[in-house]
Amino acid sequence: MESTRNKLIELLANNQDDYISGQVLSDKLKISRSGIWKHMKELEKDGYTIEGKSKKGYRILDYPDKLSENTLQWGLNTKWIGKTIIHKQSIPSTQIIAHQVALEGASHGTVVIADEQTMGKGRMNRHWHSGKGKGIWLSILVRPDILPYQAPQLTLLTATVLADVLRTCTTVAPLIKWPNDILINNKKTAGILTEMQAEQDRIQYVVIGIGLNVNQTKSDMPEDIGHRATSLQMETNKHWQLRELVQNILTTFENTYDSYMENGFPEIKDKWESFGFKIGESISIKTMRDKWDATFLGIAADGALLTKATDGTTKKLYSAEIDWFKEGEN
Ligand code: BTN
Repeated sequence: MESTRNKLIELLANNQDDYISGQVLSDKLKISRSGIWKHMKELEKDGYTIEGKSKKGYRILDYPDKLSENTLQWGLNTKWIGKTIIHKQSIPSTQIIAHQVALEGASHGTVVIADEQTMGKGRMNRHWHSGKGKGIWLSILVRPDILPYQAPQLTLLTATVLADVLRTCTTVAPLIKWPNDILINNKKTAGILTEMQAEQDRIQYVVIGIGLNVNQTKSDMPEDIGHRATSLQMETNKHWQLRELVQNILTTFENTYDSYMENGFPEIKDKWESFGFKIGESISIKTMRDKWDATFLGIAADGALLTKATDGTTKKLYSAEIDWFKEGEN
């Protein structure tokens, strides 16, 4: 059962450009007018800006920056993503909850988001620092009709989504460092962790975890990563509304995903390469046995890194340690 409060916000949100009278609200919600007034005061305490005018009624002027299922869903005009949003204040990791609900049958497009993660997971078992209210820590559950070997394309797709949102909604110039780090001014501001549950030739589901550093200041950055990590606020000297950014990420993700399902990977590859860090430049590559310099050519359809060695041979690399920065660059 939806709570009275949620219904009240929904009524106000659906009527944003106009006032809605206390009497109409009281009739629709079947509570007294003083009850309505009390709810309005509670909403204001939660950060909503409500305008109340005598003889006209109430309307919402602004939503709180606080994340919740409700604040994220209003104004989110998507077809399938975020129809179910699970918001938690503090949890070990949104990936864990996303896997749990996926196994229980949660639908394609379910989003799990947290204000804080106490055990945020990064790639290669690294810890992902996810301070309270400082960034966007979310996981998207998708059930794509693609083959398991194509799943890395979803990571590359998500990287283009984040780069696109940062470029269009902020003033920064993001780049994507292969495979999926988003850099601003050579420092990492976002990462993506893709985890898949699949049978041999069928994907059951994929959980795409997105971590975006937004409102950290220099002193919020843990010492061990401070020299190579950054946040939107550190780059722009401005505090950013998480809610708006999340909605933009979800909307752009849905559009990009739908177009990928229709047109395949080539568009994503082009987009990715348009943001690609060091494309056409020289990088140093290290494997268990070897170390060599090569030119970074771009990405292959399977997500591999395409390189050209000094002897002219082209190589696809799936896992290697890449030295992206020459001495003195970073
Ligand atoms: C990376 O190492 O670059 C990937 C970081 C991914 C972090 C996000 S935050 C939301 C989701 N939940 C997690 O525990 N990890 C991912």
